[in-house]
Amino acid sequence: MKKTILSILLSTVAMVGMAQEGYVPAPENVKARQEFADYKLGIFLHWGIYSQYAQGEWYLQNANLDRNEYAKAADAFYPHRFNAEKWVAAFKDAGAKYITFTSRHHDGFSMWNTKQSDYNIVQSTPYGKDIIAQLADACHKQDISLHLYYSHIDWMREDYPWGRTGLNVGKDRTKIDWPHYYSFMNNQLTELLTNYGKIGAIWFDGYWDHDSDPTPFDWQLGEQYALIHKLQPGCLVGNNHHINPFPGEDIQIFERDLPGENTAGWNTSEISKLPLETCETMNGMWGYKVADQNYKSTDDLIRLLVNTAGKGANLLINIGPQANGELPAIALDRLKGLGEWMRTYGETIYGTTGGDLKNQPWGATTRKGNKLFVHITNLQSSVLALPLNGKVAKVLSFLDKKPIPYHSMNKGITLELDDMPKVVDYVIEIEFK
Ligand code: GLC
Repeated sequence: MKKTILSILLSTVAMVGMAQEGYVPAPENVKARQEFADYKLGIFLHWGIYSQYAQGEWYLQNANLDRNEYAKAADAFYPHRFNAEKWVAAFKDAGAKYITFTSRHHDGFSMWNTKQSDYNIVQSTPYGKDIIAQLADACHKQDISLHLYYSHIDWMREDYPWGRTGLNVGKDRTKIDWPHYYSFMNNQLTELLTNYGKIGAIWFDGYWDHDSDPTPFDWQLGEQYALIHKLQPGCLVGNNHHINPFPGEDIQIFERDLPGENTAGWNTSEISKLPLETCETMNGMWGYKVADQNYKSTDDLIRLLVNTAGKGANLLINIGPQANGELPAIALDRLKGLGEWMRTYGETIYGTTGGDLKNQPWGATTRKGNKLFVHITNLQSSVLALPLNGKVAKVLSFLDKKPIPYHSMNKGITLELDDMPKVVDYVIEIEFK
């Protein structure tokens, strides 16, 4: 028992040491947080040389490959169909307000012209062009925010301190050099935040690689977060570490679960006051996987978006682009479907907060000013009781603004929904006095 208390104490002390202590977000950052919270829909992109193997982004680790053999894929990477403008136009058309792109994943390959290592898109591929530069230009032109995923893990570099992954890829353990690796990362982050204009967020991943270390691992996050905020005060910092946010972080991330839920098994953190984001795959894998055609339907994605907004969070929905630079046709179809829906119902999603009621088996609610949007995605009866506070002025069908019959209760109202149309999300607008 004593030992447990001691280890909890020690890890708490270590965590405090790691955080950006006394962090007060700059005014630009506070503004960016609010903008982010209003975005509600983002597109996550996992793209790298792993796309050529078409087995997802963990192939190097999962197949126990030798890292130098794996890296030969770089010399064949030629995404001749990549068109940043077209990608971004498709994301915008889907109603997304930001994209989060893998600048460097766990396999250590950098998708920009980094001076810190030749293992990058410009030096090591026949393609030879900077992907981040093209995306940044397209995003800035089309006014969509560019966020960058950045892996803390590196399965390629020998200076990265071994955690619990990437142990069988042929590295020499004696070459671990944390200070060297740490400054490599900070130099890379400096490039990303200096050479590509405004970056909306840095999205870290891989913290959990060291969650089983015998003594707590110090990632020195505080200094790293401070560097980011110094270079771009409005840049949001998020970390997919699955635990409560540290000072210095500006958004809270939930992987494959809505805030407060834990079907994935690792989401035990509490919901903070920071803007929230849930990331999820369209099919099953983040990076392109040839065998995984099990895509969620457009209706499933709409319901997911609605339930995420009902929790007050953004949905960051992932696509794994193909090695040739195209987005998979099914993903494009889903983007189109989302866009059509958002053009009609966006008002009930963008700029909203989580609604007055918790998510229900029948759907979710979102709130904007004196309006509550009731999203009915799965109603089993024709009567719906809504235990609301406040005096109701109007109850309308969102789409055609026709009044919906209702009765007042002691607390809230009961809706009569005899003629409810069969749509993926029947939205009712309640205006309060
Ligand atoms: C997990 C996976 C990683 C993926 C991330 C996205 O951390 O390890 O491959 O990029 O989830 O949320």
